[in-house]
Amino acid sequence: MRIGIDFGTSYSAAAAMVNGELTLIQFGDAYQFRTAVFFPEVVPNPDDFRLTPALEAQVDTLLLSMRREHPQVSEAQRCRDAIRVVRRQWMEEQTRVAAASIASFQDALFGEDAVEAYLVEGTGHLIESPKSMLGYRLDPPVRRIIVSIAAHILEHIRLTATRQLGVPVRGAVIGRPVEFRSSMGPAGGEQALELLREAATIAGFDEVSFLEEPAAAAMHYHMSLPERQLALIVDIGGGTTDVAYAELGGGLEPVIHHSWGLPKGGTDLDIGVSLHSFMPHLGKDVSPVPVHHFVEAASVHILPKQREFRRQNYRLVDEPFGSRLRSLQQLGATTRLNRLAERIKIELGAQARAGVDLAFIEKGLTIEVGQPDLLLAAEDFLQRLRRLLAQARDGMVEMPRSIFLTGGSSRSPLLQESVRASFPGVAVVAGDPSLGVVSGLAAASSRTARGCTGLCLSRKDQSAALARPLASVRGGISTAGNECPREE
Ligand SMILES: Nc1ncnc2c1ncn2[C@@H]1O[C@H](COP(=O)(O)OP(=O)(O)OP(=O)(O)O)[C@@H](O)[C@H]1O
Ligand SMILES: [Mg+2]
Repeated sequence: MRIGIDFGTSYSAAAAMVNGELTLIQFGDAYQFRTAVFFPEVVPNPDDFRLTPALEAQVDTLLLSMRREHPQVSEAQRCRDAIRVVRRQWMEEQTRVAAASIASFQDALFGEDAVEAYLVEGTGHLIESPKSMLGYRLDPPVRRIIVSIAAHILEHIRLTATRQLGVPVRGAVIGRPVEFRSSMGPAGGEQALELLREAATIAGFDEVSFLEEPAAAAMHYHMSLPERQLALIVDIGGGTTDVAYAELGGGLEPVIHHSWGLPKGGTDLDIGVSLHSFMPHLGKDVSPVPVHHFVEAASVHILPKQREFRRQNYRLVDEPFGSRLRSLQQLGATTRLNRLAERIKIELGAQARAGVDLAFIEKGLTIEVGQPDLLLAAEDFLQRLRRLLAQARDGMVEMPRSIFLTGGSSRSPLLQESVRASFPGVAVVAGDPSLGVVSGLAAASSRTARGCTGLCLSRKDQSAALARPLASVRGGISTAGNECPREE
């Protein structure tokens, strides 16, 4: 059985076509879960201590020196002391090993439960949005951890789908952004696919292919269109924003002409809110603390940046900023602050002002934020979004008849307005913000299962592709100008 998997920066979902019907996989009582995993701190159990031959040898060595140094102490007492020392060293070693191998823990929690457990327990490890890190330069140990985390999540999806569908799930079409978030340019995108493929194999998938997320959303929209039309798909997610220009509907095959990607999304708005509205209260721009410290603190999804922030010493920073920054260095505090930034962003979509209580930073510290603040915080993203849409508009031979808007961030009135303003007069169709992509991936997975291949996109030579007559390529899904499938 093959399923479609939307392995999102913020939320993940899965679905399959069962007897021609879209079947969404349920995670708890929802059709998606936050892409977060929590590994509890494994505290070694002192009762597991046994005197192995190696540990006995350590006790003997200690006894030898104790006999020399404390001849007045009885042999029974020296023996007890030596065992106590060896036992303590054993506990320390167990703790060290446990902390270093978080990715192998079996008691992982997923989604909101993961974040909750992390914030409530105040110990353990929370990894949110591992997708954001796939395209970054990673040291071998971090690379291993990220692959392992992604594998845990994909396995969670595979096993949940297997249970619900009642058949073993072994194949998947996994969504991919047009452009991954990357610190290495296009090489980052290649690495991201390599890591995802590796993770999927560890998770028990024998057969994996990738499909661009806006192409998947296009496929979903396609199925709802009785008449043939040119359409623009805009998927504004948590980590990336993807656009596809396609000819859809009318009972014919969908044709994707071109796609464009921006490796920014809703999580960048959260960072914007945090930097613009929260961080000045912790000393940004008003204390000598360099601005990059605040960026590192706000970048909750980039583990090396978080580590860097927690390593700083703020003892000599003037009050109240020194104490506030030290509070923010406590385990879970940056996650909490990021959650509040996301909440503010969402609330300001519906109301003029919103307040947050930062008691976990300092008792009595509250902040009020208004819509103009959100506008300023979002300015950089809005500019990039406008540029992306202008690029798409300039690349089209004909204006689309409709724009299909999906992705969680498409709920934002600010972003909806920005899309409308870039295409005046074009009808905007609001798709399901959360399920547009996964529904298309499910359709693609069933086509692949029937021997067809995934949707293909023509990106390398767009003008040539647009000049060509629309090509219907093998397997029932069409492409304009590329070889099919576009499977990396
Ligand atoms: N009402 C809302 N207003 C603004 N943003 C919202 C709203 N609801 C959800 N979001 C944002 O939507 C984003 C998640 O969207 P989505 O689930 O489409 O992302 P994703 O698929 O996980 O990410 P990606 O596709 O980029 O990998 C988050 O940044 C979240 O804060
Ligand atoms: Mg998405």
